[in-house]
Amino acid sequence: MAGIRAPDQALYTAPTVPPQPPGDDPGVQLDFGLTVEPMGRRGRLARPSRAVAARRLDDHPQTRVKLDALRNYLPRFILILGQGLKARHVYIIDLFAGPGRYADGADPRGWSEGSPLVACEAALYAQEWLRDRGFGTEVHLRFVEKSKRTANLLRAALAPFTGKIDYAVVDGTAEDAAPVLLTESRGHPTLAFLDPDGFKELPFEVVRSFGRRYTEVLISFDVQGVIRVAGLEDAGLVTAFYGDDMWRAMRRDDGSIDADVFLEGYRQRLAVIPAFRYTSVRRIHFPKNHANRAIAQGCGSRKGLQAWSEAIRKAKTTDGVLVLDIAREVERRDAIDRAIELLAPVAGSNVRYGAILQVLAQVDLPDPDVHQVLLFMRELGQVTWTSTLHAASVPPPIFGFAEAIEPVRWDGVTRAEERPALRALPAGGSGGYGPA
Ligand SMILES: C[S@@+](CC[C@H](N)C(=O)[O-])C[C@H]1O[C@@H](n2cnc3c(N)ncnc32)[C@H](O)[C@@H]1O
Repeated sequence: MAGIRAPDQALYTAPTVPPQPPGDDPGVQLDFGLTVEPMGRRGRLARPSRAVAARRLDDHPQTRVKLDALRNYLPRFILILGQGLKARHVYIIDLFAGPGRYADGADPRGWSEGSPLVACEAALYAQEWLRDRGFGTEVHLRFVEKSKRTANLLRAALAPFTGKIDYAVVDGTAEDAAPVLLTESRGHPTLAFLDPDGFKELPFEVVRSFGRRYTEVLISFDVQGVIRVAGLEDAGLVTAFYGDDMWRAMRRDDGSIDADVFLEGYRQRLAVIPAFRYTSVRRIHFPKNHANRAIAQGCGSRKGLQAWSEAIRKAKTTDGVLVLDIAREVERRDAIDRAIELLAPVAGSNVRYGAILQVLAQVDLPDPDVHQVLLFMRELGQVTWTSTLHAASVPPPIFGFAEAIEPVRWDGVTRAEERPALRALPAGGSGGYGPA
């Protein structure tokens, strides 16, 4: 990939904010972020708008991470697949396209590209790169948008690409447009980007319809929304999204659901589709405003998986946004649960830390997670220890386990580590956890 120009500089001169076309939504768009609505005799009141066209990237750092990852990934996707012997045409299908641009105080232009513009920039750049090297690959971009008003904003935002790249804006829903676009792109490398506001708009059947050779899906959805709806009595929408109702078995007594377990289940459902031999799912968490989105990937090559992982890693994750690899998180949880099980035989004994490590040897947990096991079990009254739980603690702690250790699952809460208790070492004494 040496010599590839990063497509993060705009490849065109964008107009200033396009004029707002008259829309079909209630209210008049004033500016990014504000809508005016009638207030009867009390006049008109400006209220913050939730419309996607009014979104500011400054307030949505999780969207910035998603867009940045896409900006890193799309050129690689096109270049990898565009060099295939038969790959004359490559398709990028963005089925929940949005307005194309967002207000963005962090960008000197005052705005930043949404996914359709990111895709156009990547396509122009990659197509040019491929042509310079003798590949006649053509990239085709299809953008589906349900809201007429947003679709019109998108058309205006895409105007600078007219005549430079093959793109089309399709009015309508992803569900209705998918079969037509699948037919058009049949036999050609295709990336489908499925990015609804929530999750209800994306039944699993639509995702499944993209499960064919040389086609990859990137699915971004609102995890918080799924978890909220899953807690309700009638959660048929979650079933439609998930593809079956096995998620109901995850519901705890209070109706709540562990987001990571749900996400891993979703990934496994993607993995069952033969074309998606390689799958991943990550949670993009912004604790400050309780935003919790996930991006799942289904593709046919390990290269795709690695490239997406790299693209996510390189995305700007400022402002306290966390990106969690769910497969790893779920694996970690399983290992912690297994460790609790393995400790059952030490019930009623007093042991040193080394003895605990021997018991847990087969789960290969790093020390911080062994600590989490012990801190959790202490809260449940299953273990206590002398001094403190720290390698530098003097004297080293002795762990006293309760007479019976109940089989429990870890609650997933990361507890604060203990600080070392230090005092003068006796002559010749060893510090830390001491010998096993
Ligand atoms: C999260 S936004 C898209 C953001 C865009 N992908 C980006 O990253 O810049 C979701 C968009 O999908 C549109 N939408 C909602 N339901 C839809 C459906 N069933 N089919 C197509 N578009 C839909 C919304 O109007 C909204 O503009």
